[in-house]
Amino acid sequence: MVFAQSCTLIYCIISALISLRSVESYFVGITYVESAVAKGAVCLDGSPPAYHLSPGFGSGVNNWLVQIEGGGWCNNVTTCLARKNTRLGSSKAMVKQLAFSGIFSNKQNANPDFYNWNKVKVRYCDGSSFTGDVERVDPATNLHYRGARVFQAVMDDLLAKGMNKAQNALLSGCSAGGLTSILHCDKFRALVPAGARIRCLSDAGFFINAKDITGAEHIKAFYDDVVTTHGSSKNLPSCSSPLSSPGKCFFPQYVVPQVSTPLFILNAAYDSWQVKNILAPGVADPHGSWHDCKLDIKQCSSVQLTTMQDFRTEFLSALAASAGSSTTGLFINSCYAHCQSETQETWLRSDSPVLGDTTIAKAIGDWYFDRRPFKKIDCPYPCDKTCHNRIFEDHYEA
Ligand SMILES: *[C@@H]1O[C@H](CO)[C@@H](O)[C@H](O)[C@H]1NC(C)=O
Repeated sequence: MVFAQSCTLIYCIISALISLRSVESYFVGITYVESAVAKGAVCLDGSPPAYHLSPGFGSGVNNWLVQIEGGGWCNNVTTCLARKNTRLGSSKAMVKQLAFSGIFSNKQNANPDFYNWNKVKVRYCDGSSFTGDVERVDPATNLHYRGARVFQAVMDDLLAKGMNKAQNALLSGCSAGGLTSILHCDKFRALVPAGARIRCLSDAGFFINAKDITGAEHIKAFYDDVVTTHGSSKNLPSCSSPLSSPGKCFFPQYVVPQVSTPLFILNAAYDSWQVKNILAPGVADPHGSWHDCKLDIKQCSSVQLTTMQDFRTEFLSALAASAGSSTTGLFINSCYAHCQSETQETWLRSDSPVLGDTTIAKAIGDWYFDRRPFKKIDCPYPCDKTCHNRIFEDHYEA
């Protein structure tokens, strides 16, 4: 980089930082799927669904990365009403420009395998990981539970925009979107032309059926409510679950053995969302003794760390029981993190996390293109010095 002689040192540093940032992310405008409204494929508030599309270029014009946004779930009328007029329930409340980076970067050095693909971020506004379908709309609340219809309508729109000619496609997503990519993986493959290379990536979407610190089945009860409220059962893939409750096929560990499309599971073994909401949710910790530990793993007591090690053991056995297929990819690091593919610092940078000397970007690219399989599980915390562990603000709510 050449700077004018008049440029002072501090100015040079600032402009270098700005140009670095612009290499790492760029903004992509929103597209509303107005035609979906007539099909009843709408957000919680009845507004049209939306996505952000960055067109492919060069050799990537017929390759499609379809990334599903995350954002938890709403499990009953109260919580669905609470999100109805937010960006997670209404396209009217979504920002019109979204920053793309990490697996979404359009720079070859920052994203070697996917930089020139068509890149789509599907906005999340149904609260059910795109599984709901209830015909009736209660006039008192005007809540629409139509996530499964939204998924179909958005895919139809993308197929019409060229995805019907896809040669390579990857359905991806993080958190509730990572769960979506598991639950819809085979459906997605059936939509895209036969003969194309179709795969799915779940980033931080492997939510396990574990008891909380009091022994209560908190996440199971929550998922039961999600599935019941949204009428999701008919849209969930078949699964072999020991449970008989409505939410049984909402758990990846029971669904993944039946998924026939190759799937990559990227997850931290100490997933920060799962620690906060499955292992030690607020209701299970009325005195807040987990408060500091949930914000920053370095603040956990030795007793809490032991509980977290047990959680990791449970996580790994749920995974082992379900991810045995030779086409499955695994990158399970021992970080306190949640979603590692969409930020440049965790996806691919000089200091980004590695497992077996391999970055997340390289592991997923190698697996996608069959350059080599990748199935690695980290040694337990705190052995991994490459983590970008999350430290949350006090007011942060997952
Ligand atoms: C709805 O779900 C929330 C979160 O699980 C819970 O706190 C609340 O009591 C539920 N409300 C109703 C009306 O069931």
